[in-house]
Amino acid sequence: MVTSVEVSPAPSTTILRPAKFTGKVALSSLPAESDPVASLPADIPLDTLKVIRPSVKETSSSSSEDDEADDLVGKEANGEKVTRNGDSDTLVLGKNFHDLCLTITEPDFDDDVTGEKDAYMAGVLARYRKKLVERTKFHLGYPYNLDFEYGALTQLQHFSINNLGDPFIESNYGVHSRQFEVGVLDWFARLWDIEKNEYWGYITNCGTEGNLHGILVGREVFPDGVLYASKDSHYSVFKAARIYRMDVVKVDTLLSGEIDCKDLKQKLSERADKPAILNVNIGTTVKGAVDDLDLVLETLSEAGFKEDRFYIHCDGALFGLMMPFVKKAPKVSFKKPIGSVSVSGHKFVGCPMPCGVQITRMEHISVLSKNVEYLASRDATIMGSRNGHAPIFLWYTLNRKGYQGFQKEVQRCLRNAHYLKECLRAAGFGVMLNELSSTVVFERPQEESFVLKWQLACQGKIAHAVVMPNVTVEKINKFVKELIESRQRCFSDGKVPCIVEEVGPENCACEEHRGIQHTDRNNDH
Ligand SMILES: Cc1ncc(COP(=O)(O)O)c(C=O)c1O
Repeated sequence: MVTSVEVSPAPSTTILRPAKFTGKVALSSLPAESDPVASLPADIPLDTLKVIRPSVKETSSSSSEDDEADDLVGKEANGEKVTRNGDSDTLVLGKNFHDLCLTITEPDFDDDVTGEKDAYMAGVLARYRKKLVERTKFHLGYPYNLDFEYGALTQLQHFSINNLGDPFIESNYGVHSRQFEVGVLDWFARLWDIEKNEYWGYITNCGTEGNLHGILVGREVFPDGVLYASKDSHYSVFKAARIYRMDVVKVDTLLSGEIDCKDLKQKLSERADKPAILNVNIGTTVKGAVDDLDLVLETLSEAGFKEDRFYIHCDGALFGLMMPFVKKAPKVSFKKPIGSVSVSGHKFVGCPMPCGVQITRMEHISVLSKNVEYLASRDATIMGSRNGHAPIFLWYTLNRKGYQGFQKEVQRCLRNAHYLKECLRAAGFGVMLNELSSTVVFERPQEESFVLKWQLACQGKIAHAVVMPNVTVEKINKFVKELIESRQRCFSDGKVPCIVEEVGPENCACEEHRGIQHTDRNNDH
């Protein structure tokens, strides 16, 4: 493993020229357990959306390797000058894929003889594969671990593996992978301290499905319950409230993105006649903030809510798997009065298809489930058919890495995130890293092409990079160097945008706040 890396020696206030980006910061000098998660814009204000249709000239049959990642930077996206910044009330949506889609055509009558169609499709797939390799190289914004090797499982792609129904009850459909699924669930049950006979769970299609399920269980336990979620919660939580037509209360957050328990208490007290269903974030999407579960429990008690009047769902999409391996982190455990925990399988675990894990208490599931004769099984899941390949991928990687393997990966990510933060700070960027997170928040790059190249997730004036096991020190160095260059193209006068409202004065590097930087670090080490 790399222990020393090329970085600029902290020039504190001025922006570095790319040529000077050659100093050294030894990783060994970083705290042993530096810590810090995930990525999509939260609630989209529909009334401010405006779709900008690109005037694209590309066609799917283009033989050149279209937009190789390197070609993107410094150019205008889609032939239009598109900038996104927090001051604008216009949210620019991504490309409209109708302009790029691969049209399906009817086979010619003699295709079997000429083989033309097969050759065409092979060409398309080969180019697509090349593009995937390229796009995988330049990915930093979403919490996906792209570092995996599942060659041993290719033999299974010839099977239609479907775990429809309850994981613990065999259905009439025999081509399933329940034996793997339950093995994976047991592993997570152990991680979150719940006995085999006390939990129920399943492998979901994604973290969103886990949230939809956890909140549904909460609503079935308390049909008249009010849903409380911090405003930094993932949009799937508010989607659940809309689907289930639940009353939802948005709770304020601290600057770090953590739920503000003072505001929570106030809002709970105002609705003390109704049971509470709470979404607790184990890593928020944008800032990677971890809600303090113990403080939330204390707040519930202070607001007069006994254990039989609340239900807590923990959204651990990314950090649900990382946090158990961070020594200083508060523990998510079913020994505490929580109702469910969910995590995404394609994030930290590194499963190549979207999936997730949802665990709840067995006692709750009878409230939700119904027997289905047609399946000879029980229906307690959100979806009907379920991806039977995903549990095998999870089983395979959990077996290979084990708790110890994950622990090492978590530590490396946290250290590398700390390193990225230091590099950005040294280069004069406003930057924030929450203590228990690997999500590094910094000023939103002005060049849309840069954002596209590095696949950054942006919200308002900030962007973030999520340091996953595939994010190496070399990748970080390349990113920082290019970010500095991008900024120079946009701010040749050396101006640094102010992001104080998003990250606080001690993390902002604008002219007004840069003196405060480095002196008081509330949010990091
Ligand atoms: C905190 C949080 N919860 C839920 C989700 C949804 O996860 P998925 O994309 O697996 O549906 C995300 C995704 O980034 C997230 O950050």
